[in-house]
Amino acid sequence: MSEQIDNVLHENRAFPPSKDFQSQARLNSFEQYQRMYAESLQDPEAFWGRVAQELPWIRPFDQVLDWSDAPFASWFQGGQLNASAICLDQHVANGRGDKLAIRWEGEPGDRRDFTYRELLEEVGRFANVLKARGVQRGDRVAIYMPMIPELTMAVLACARIGAVHSVVFGGFSAQALADRIHDGDCCAVITSDGGWRRGKVLPLKQEVDTALATCKGVHTQLVIRRCGNEVAWDEKRDVWYHEAAEQVGSDCPPEAMESEDLLFLLYTSGSTGKPKGIMHSTGGYMVGAYLSARYIFDLREDDVYWCTADVGWITGHSYIVYGPMANGVTQVMYEGAPNAPAENRFWDICERHGVTVFYTAPTAIRAFMKWGDQHVKRHDLSKLRLLGSVGEPINPEAWMWYRKLVGGDRCPIVDTWWQTETGGIMISPLPGITATHPGCASLPFFGVDAAILDLQGNELGPDQGGLLALQKPWPSMLRGIWGDAKRYRDTYWSKWPGKMVYFAGDGARRDPDGLFWILGRVDDVINVSGHRLSTMEVESALVSHPGVVEAAVVGRPDELTGEAIVAFVIPQGGVTDDPLVIQALSDHVVHEIGKLARPAEIRLTEALPKTRSGKIMRRLLRDIASGREQVQDLSTIENPAVLDQLRGKKA
Ligand code: WT7
Repeated sequence: MSEQIDNVLHENRAFPPSKDFQSQARLNSFEQYQRMYAESLQDPEAFWGRVAQELPWIRPFDQVLDWSDAPFASWFQGGQLNASAICLDQHVANGRGDKLAIRWEGEPGDRRDFTYRELLEEVGRFANVLKARGVQRGDRVAIYMPMIPELTMAVLACARIGAVHSVVFGGFSAQALADRIHDGDCCAVITSDGGWRRGKVLPLKQEVDTALATCKGVHTQLVIRRCGNEVAWDEKRDVWYHEAAEQVGSDCPPEAMESEDLLFLLYTSGSTGKPKGIMHSTGGYMVGAYLSARYIFDLREDDVYWCTADVGWITGHSYIVYGPMANGVTQVMYEGAPNAPAENRFWDICERHGVTVFYTAPTAIRAFMKWGDQHVKRHDLSKLRLLGSVGEPINPEAWMWYRKLVGGDRCPIVDTWWQTETGGIMISPLPGITATHPGCASLPFFGVDAAILDLQGNELGPDQGGLLALQKPWPSMLRGIWGDAKRYRDTYWSKWPGKMVYFAGDGARRDPDGLFWILGRVDDVINVSGHRLSTMEVESALVSHPGVVEAAVVGRPDELTGEAIVAFVIPQGGVTDDPLVIQALSDHVVHEIGKLARPAEIRLTEALPKTRSGKIMRRLLRDIASGREQVQDLSTIENPAVLDQLRGKKA
């Protein structure tokens, strides 16, 4: 069987960076990129050894990379460092203590700012509270919090004392939290009484209480007071942070961590089975987060950076906490929903804080498009200079909207491809160098030996879609799956027997200029009459119709064609049963892609099933489309009610 994915969408628009942007960018010549990239692959030890020395080490490393026990890598062996000291102490020591680190805004409109010096004090105090409760180096600590400054402090406080943080997104259920606490064998949980979301209090402590009923290994629940809502209390286990903080000082020297000591666990759900505790260690991760944030977001001294992700995802770990802070930037942090109190909230924040670099997800961009241009147009976004996208392939329609409406047709968009497992961005435009193209992740970052392979491991040629593979270890790579070395090998390193190559699970193609276009998860590929189509491209075609807000496309078994295309479509202006609407959409796909892509069925719907991070759950749609009983794990779905609606409805 050929693993080729036919590439059917043709995108020819190109947007080079403006002269102005280019002249001020950290990297601004293609030759410079090529030189650095070539060195990073040919002599990774020299390249990464030099980059690593830009960070303050407590003890210098002896060896850059040891890959002799592949796929278990060891980077910067012999070196000692502390991630919180890289994010805080170095800036204070270098005279940047008075620079704002965080400009935080709560959903109700309350504000708190912290300079790097203030943040260092708060983190020191936080770390001392953890120590006073008996948390030690190497212990695992679960963090389940809203997007308040104490979330960043909690993460950095763990890093400061060498405890391993395991942040669980605050939107997960008590059951999901309990599973993760159990798996990581956590001894403490940090939470808050509640958090604000669309004007309501999310009762976080209550969820933790439910989870802890089955987690006897947790000796401490540390609770931040955020909303003042009523909470139950266990005198032996529960501690108010503000009370404990009065008992300790703010001076807490950073623990000297070995480069390969675990910095954190972060759980990611596979399509089946229990969530995987992805392990990231200290030295390599920090070097990767630092360098990628610096070059891809082109960070400058005067930037006001805003990544709208939650710290509960890898995006928040690498591009809210560690990457930006290692670079000493000023950043905006926001607690609540993008439509609270109204649909202009993000643009209002951008205008008032003078945001210059803005990083968000395609799912958010599509929501903004649906809410209407007027919410963006009301605001002065002229300070913005760079936009980013992450999380899933961005359809060209959304990309163009983002560029025009938010970016004023002036800001480059970096479409950044990476994964929880990769720790940092792997494929992305470099904004001062690359002409960007709608839907194109562009160039491999330094040290990233990306290739498109077929099932046999042969490299495919230009414009041939195949499996995205990473052929060399990189500093911020995962170090394993917590407690399951076999699953680590099987999932990521066994796709091509005999080759130590990382399989990302995504399909992609490289165009004749060598740029990468991500086609989505390979389990999202449909095979119609021997043509392997990326669901993403059919979705992009649908969404380019003015009457479509969002679309998800899956395959269902078909006697004649192998698989047939089923499209779930959210129409602009509500669901109708007008057959002409369906016909028009179907014709549109044929017009955009060709006859082979004509959907066998189009179902109009009000909503699509999504994970809490906003990814469409195509595996559920596949079951629905083929009339199968649901056997999938539903613990990560954001909106379970939508499933019944989809099953009942046949347009
Ligand atoms: C998967 C990883 C990386 C942080 C957030 C998601 C998809 C991610 C892109 C992009 C196309 C993308 C891939 C990847 N993905 N970014 N720019 N273009 N696809 O982290 O939950 O670990 O998911 O997200 O399918 O494998 P994650």
